[in-house]
Amino acid sequence: MLSNLKAQPADKILALMAKYKEDPRPTKVDLGVGVYKDADGKTPVMRAVKEAERRLVEEQDSKSYVGLPGDPAFADAMIGLVLGDAVERGRIAAVATPGGTGAVRQAFELVKNTSPTARVFVSNPTWPNHVSILNYLGIETVAYRYFDTDTRAVDFDGMLADLAGANEGDVVLLHGCCHNPTGANLNLTQWQAVVDLINEKGLIAMIDIAYQGFGDGLEEDAAATRLVASSVKELLIAGSCSKNFGVYRERTGILMAISEGTENTPLVQQNLNFLNRQNYSFPPDHGARVVTTILTDPELRADWAAELEEIRLSMLGLRQQLADELQRLSGSDRFGFIAEHRGMFSQIGTTPEKVEQIRENDGIYMVGDSRMNIAGLNAKTVPLLAKAIIDAGV
Ligand code: LMR
Repeated sequence: MLSNLKAQPADKILALMAKYKEDPRPTKVDLGVGVYKDADGKTPVMRAVKEAERRLVEEQDSKSYVGLPGDPAFADAMIGLVLGDAVERGRIAAVATPGGTGAVRQAFELVKNTSPTARVFVSNPTWPNHVSILNYLGIETVAYRYFDTDTRAVDFDGMLADLAGANEGDVVLLHGCCHNPTGANLNLTQWQAVVDLINEKGLIAMIDIAYQGFGDGLEEDAAATRLVASSVKELLIAGSCSKNFGVYRERTGILMAISEGTENTPLVQQNLNFLNRQNYSFPPDHGARVVTTILTDPELRADWAAELEEIRLSMLGLRQQLADELQRLSGSDRFGFIAEHRGMFSQIGTTPEKVEQIRENDGIYMVGDSRMNIAGLNAKTVPLLAKAIIDAGV
C-alpha cells in the first residue's frame, strides 16, 4: 500500500521555510512564513501569555478531557473579541479548532456536507492553503479578481463583477482584515457593497480572520467582520489566535457559525461537535485556555493589547521605512502602496524570476508570488531589501 503513494504538491510557504534553513549565508533574511519577529529576529512569547501559562501551571488541577467544542469560556471570549455585540449570542455556534487552519478545514467540510454543489469563491490571490484544502476536499473553487497588479490595491470593480457570477448558495470567502498574501484591503464602504451583493444573490459569506490587531487596531480590524455579521442571515467565521497571541505552535483557533435565528443554533452546534469528533475528537486546550485567561482578566488583557499594539506600530514603522527607502532609491512614488497596505504581508507584484533573483543574489527570502512578511524585517534589513528590490529591476 505505502509504496503506491504519490508525492503530494509541496506547500510553497513551507518549502520556502526549509530552503531558508539550508542557506548557510549569515546575512540571509527570512520574509517567508507569517511569523512576527522582533528587532533581534526573535519570535518572543508575549508577556501576558507567559503570565497566563505560569498561572495555569500553578492552578490547573486536571488534564482530563474538556468537551468536543472545547471550553465554552474560550468560545465566549473569542466571540466577544471578534464580534463584540454585533450578533445575538444565541445565534452563534462555536467550536475550538487546532489553529485557524483547523477552523477553515472544518468550515469547508461543513459546506461540503450541507451543500455538495456549492462552489467556494476565493480571492485571486488568496492564502495558498485555502485552495489546497478546497481541492483536497473536492470542492469546486472559483477565483474572483482581487489584486490590481498595477496599483497594488484592490481591483474592486473586478471583484464585484466576478462575485456577481456566483449562484445562490455559493460561498464567498473573505479575509476579515490584513489580506493574505496581498496586504490590500477593502474599505468599509466597499465591504457594505459586498454585503449587499451577498444578500441580493443569496450567497453564503465566510470570513477568515487571522490577523486581528495587526492592521489598524483590535477594534478597527474587527469592524468589517462585525458589519458582515450584523447584515447577513448566515455566516461562517474561522478565527485564529496564532498571530495576535503569538501562540503559533499551540494550534489555537475557533470556528463560529451564525444562524439566521436562535432556534437553529443547537443543531449547528451539534454538527460542529460531530465534525470535531470525526476529525480529531477533542480540540487542543492549552492555547485556548491561555487565551481565555488573558481575555477574561482585565490586567492581563490590557497588557496583551498593549504589546500587540507595539507590534502593530513596529510593523507600520517598517512599512513606512521601506516605502521611504524605495522612494529614495527609485526616485519615484511607485512603492507608496507598501505604506498603505495593512497586516503582516505585502505583495510587491513582481515575477517569480525576480523573487528568485533576490533570493539567489541577496539571500532575501520572499514567497514566489512576491509576498513578503513585513514582520520579518527590522530597521537594519529594510535598506538591504530596498536595494535588492531596485537591483532586481522591480
Ligand atoms: C502564512 O501564510 O505564512 C501563515 O498563515 C502560516 C501558514 O500556515 O501558512
